[in-house]
Amino acid sequence: MGVTAMKRRLRGVVLLVLALLLTATAVVLLHGEAEGDADASAVAAAPPFNASRVRAVSWRPRIFVYRGFLSDGECDHLVKLGKKKMQRSMVADRNSGANVMSEVRTSSGMFLNKRQDPVVSGIEKRIAAWTFLPEENAENIQILRYEHGQKYEPHFDYFQDKVNQALGGHRYATVLMYLSTVEKGGETVFPNAEGWESQPKDDTFSECAHRGLAVKPVKGDAVLFFSLHVDGVPDPLSLHGSCPVIQGEKWSAPKWIHIRSYEHQPISKETKGCSDNSARCAKWAEAGECEKNPVYMVGAEGAPGNCRKSCRVCDS
Ligand SMILES: *[C@@H]1O[C@H](CO)[C@@H](O)[C@H](O)[C@H]1NC(C)=O
Repeated sequence: MGVTAMKRRLRGVVLLVLALLLTATAVVLLHGEAEGDADASAVAAAPPFNASRVRAVSWRPRIFVYRGFLSDGECDHLVKLGKKKMQRSMVADRNSGANVMSEVRTSSGMFLNKRQDPVVSGIEKRIAAWTFLPEENAENIQILRYEHGQKYEPHFDYFQDKVNQALGGHRYATVLMYLSTVEKGGETVFPNAEGWESQPKDDTFSECAHRGLAVKPVKGDAVLFFSLHVDGVPDPLSLHGSCPVIQGEKWSAPKWIHIRSYEHQPISKETKGCSDNSARCAKWAEAGECEKNPVYMVGAEGAPGNCRKSCRVCDS
């Protein structure tokens, strides 16, 4: 065989190998996508809203517990989505090296998108059916993980400052979904609930839970409580916290619901001196923060945001 023929054959082999590699890559990519779609469609949904599964555990403040609000599959799916997003935002931060950005993202990066897949849509619809509050009044579902010793000191879900009320007004109600059963600790505790002292508690409750009305985190259950009285005045009895996790891991998903739409941004007419308040605005806008953190970035009526220029919300 001559040198030319050998070269030709070699080139043929290289081309063949390349073609095979490309095909294999395409198959892997397609398969990966299909698997992602199948994830959501294979999740068995919990039955539609059923009032007889709800129990009022307190009227001052108003607290309700819904047993089996989510199916096991729905819980696992939300945890999976949460894990994916937490990992993704950490990687992105390390690559860009923007520390401040990562601080903004730790508080916002674990929010799912609204209606991001059929499972999330179904849950959001069920929440609206339970609370009688429209889906558009709600913030995006947040996914939280508490590991050993982690807690959330008692706090209110309503804000007194104007910026946090600009979009949607006050937070009115909270639906707190438990995505895992915690072996010990991690209870949601309401230290100001009226008559909490008479709640029967055995030693399966943690010490922290003995200081208020407590709800144990059980996978699939959900708590609904109201941070405002029916006349719109904040209810200080709605103070609540998350007890330290003693054994196991706590995954939960809060959904905050406002008194007005949280989706329709009232654009301020006040556009004079339209500018960015931070040199990082352009980067944040590029990373989608205008949509993810609208109150901070864009602002709302009477409270212009910090990156109006980069978010292109100024009247020209
Ligand atoms: C609602 O839940 C109750 C209690 O779990 C159950 O007995 C009943 O069958 C449910 N109703 C419907 C329509 O699913």
